[in-house]
Amino acid sequence: MGTVEPKRFARKKEGYQYDESYPGPPHKLNPIVNKKIAREIALLPWHLYVVHYAFVHVVFVLMLLRGTPCRNLVTCGRRSYSNEVQVGRLAGKTALVTGAAQGIGKASVLKFLEEGAKVVAVDRNELLLTGLAKEANNSNLRAHSVDITDLEALQKMAREVGDISVLMNCAGVVHAGALIESTEADFDFAFDLNVKAMYRLCKLFLPGMLEKKSGSIINIASVASSIKGVPNRLVYGASKGAVLGLTKHIAVDYVGQGIRCNAICPGTIETESLQERINAFADPVAARKAFIDRQPMGRLGLPSEIAALALYLASDESAFTTGAMIQIDGGYSL
Ligand SMILES: NC(=O)c1ccc[n+]([C@@H]2O[C@H](COP(=O)([O-])OP(=O)(O)OC[C@H]3O[C@@H](n4cnc5c(N)ncnc54)[C@H](O)[C@@H]3O)[C@@H](O)[C@H]2O)c1
Repeated sequence: MGTVEPKRFARKKEGYQYDESYPGPPHKLNPIVNKKIAREIALLPWHLYVVHYAFVHVVFVLMLLRGTPCRNLVTCGRRSYSNEVQVGRLAGKTALVTGAAQGIGKASVLKFLEEGAKVVAVDRNELLLTGLAKEANNSNLRAHSVDITDLEALQKMAREVGDISVLMNCAGVVHAGALIESTEADFDFAFDLNVKAMYRLCKLFLPGMLEKKSGSIINIASVASSIKGVPNRLVYGASKGAVLGLTKHIAVDYVGQGIRCNAICPGTIETESLQERINAFADPVAARKAFIDRQPMGRLGLPSEIAALALYLASDESAFTTGAMIQIDGGYSL
């Protein structure tokens, strides 16, 4: 008797069935229930707890391994996507894309979102941007309707956006014609949009990248000038040549500070503006055939194929690549 705890002993007296070998607290039971049953019933809640916790933990670990199961606010109800674990090749990055509302820019926005980036889509066409936002249906997308040749508008947008990790300069214009047909107005317009706006955007966002010692700038150039002269593309080719100069010099000046700057040089890509150029010919069917025949692969490139390369350059997978001019042209330049 001397080894029995007095309090427990007292409870036993009050009508608790008490098993000495069971270490848990005593449970109030009818005194006639035998010891074995009492012990099994007393253990039941502990088993349930163990099963319940094991189940919850297994489900949680599976969710982490599979990634976030739900990607937009519509299917997530009131949960905010930005608080969820980001997965994908661009997880944790913020990318700004110009010329984002159609063609290569739009395909890149969608690809970047798919890979977990927060994306700032910049375009002067508000209607198309609204369409993009609807199609993407993703709370990681912010759209800014801005004419990127307007410096004040660019500065305002840059203040609102803050730091970014990826800058994709995609907006551009194509003028047709050889030297004689070209005008100074075309020349100024092309250089303002294709080169100066790019220069300004790099200048606005580079300081933030330098502070973090990390950033990827992707400039859309062209097969024109990077690899070859293209007939009747004097102004366009000259401006894209300048894009390559800008790219190489940003790359060399900041290579030691965590900044990478590369150029993508597409061939003929099936986009809205290409269709407009085709429609401007007297015989659009023949013109389309001629555009297709330029590629030994016998087809036009897809915006998504350029976006796939942009994704690679935006991601850390291309960490050893800077100052590159990467052609992607179905063999056009062979
Ligand atoms: N499509 C091709 O075959 C091809 C080939 C080589 C290079 N590129 C280059 O790829 C880039 C994208 O071409 P695309 O054909 O995919 O695009 P696109 O011409 O179909 O669309 C360009 C987008 O840029 C926007 N934009 C134009 N001017 C702007 C401005 N001032 N401010 C803000 N936004 C503006 C337009 O609204 C449009 O949404 C361009 O730089 C182009 O030169 C295209």
